Amino acid sequence: MYTSKISGLGYYVPENVVTNNDLSKVMDTNDEWIQERTGIKERRHVIKGDGDTTTTMGVKAAKVAIERSGIDKDDIDFIIFATLSPDYYFPGPGVLVQRDLDLKTVGALDVRNQCSGFIYAISVADQFIKTGMYKNILVIGSELHSTGLDMTTRGRSVSVIFGDGAGAAILSRSEDNSKGILSTHLHSEGQYAEELALIAPGMGKRWVTDIIQENDPNDESYFPYMNGQFVFKNAVVRFSEVIMEGLKTNNLDVFDIDMLIPHQANLRISQYIQQKFKLDDDQVFNNIMKYGNTTAASIPIALTEAWEQGKIKEGDTVVLAAFGSGFTWGSAIIRW
Ligand code: COA
Repeated sequence: MYTSKISGLGYYVPENVVTNNDLSKVMDTNDEWIQERTGIKERRHVIKGDGDTTTTMGVKAAKVAIERSGIDKDDIDFIIFATLSPDYYFPGPGVLVQRDLDLKTVGALDVRNQCSGFIYAISVADQFIKTGMYKNILVIGSELHSTGLDMTTRGRSVSVIFGDGAGAAILSRSEDNSKGILSTHLHSEGQYAEELALIAPGMGKRWVTDIIQENDPNDESYFPYMNGQFVFKNAVVRFSEVIMEGLKTNNLDVFDIDMLIPHQANLRISQYIQQKFKLDDDQVFNNIMKYGNTTAASIPIALTEAWEQGKIKEGDTVVLAAFGSGFTWGSAIIRW
């Protein structure tokens, strides 16, 4: 059996910086509240008309990852795209990447696991590589949140948290079994599906013709809903569980972690995990202060920045962990 290693990383965020003070001009909020509850100082939002979409941002991140991996784009055997904010209802963005990067007619898979999307995506990629089916897989996590948020006081508890951006990784076949992705661990608990959800547009509840006819400006089902405190309480439990599950599987302990990259949901969640596991500041990477929560993009953006800043070295034990809508959660244990 082969092992998969991350051979290239890249990210892209829109240039437009939106500070907490900027948000306070369009809704009843303030910098102090946002920083105290979430740690977020600013996030990136696309500018209307600049052409950035979930797919185009993913493509920009992918180009960097491909170049850094040293492979030719024609060596990519498969595409996996994780997002909750696809350009179209269908087809998903995977095929748009195949088109925009002018790749061969390789398979393209879309992953719909929200904040855990990138962990699910690399887990799938890892299995394809381990079995020998593929050699190089392009994995993208990308989100365009800003066009779908309720930017009024009504939506403030959700809309201040999320930002736009994309991250990408190339997973490549390795014959050195001592390095690479050691294991991945995936979970779900659908009984809480509606606690963090965007109900519409969906085919489950209503006929599209009725929705068009109603054209109700007060219909909040088109905006994400989040039961914030319930999500927070579940997140801290599941993050801890799934990190421990990954460590135990590999006969590792908390003190073996060189770098923990948690999904950037809320700085308070990361700090809770850091304290619980007694990790030092240089063992946990956070960049939510700059980008907010970018859902499926948050881990690949953070992983890329940590690597660019020299915070991940060869031989390090790197732990990725995520929790989010579904609920879904997961972890990946990597020997760099
Ligand atoms: N600015 C100012 N006030 C705000 C606000 C904002 N952006 N959003 C909410 N408030 C107000 C509320 O209206 C409420 O006012 P009230 O007490 O007069 O009713 C008060 O602040 C407290 O709201 P609450 O929702 O109880 O705040 P909280 O302490 O739970 O913090 C979250 C809200 C969203 C920051 C927090 O619950 C959280 O981070 N949850 C986890 C979110 C997460 O990680 N999501 C992603 C998972 S992948």
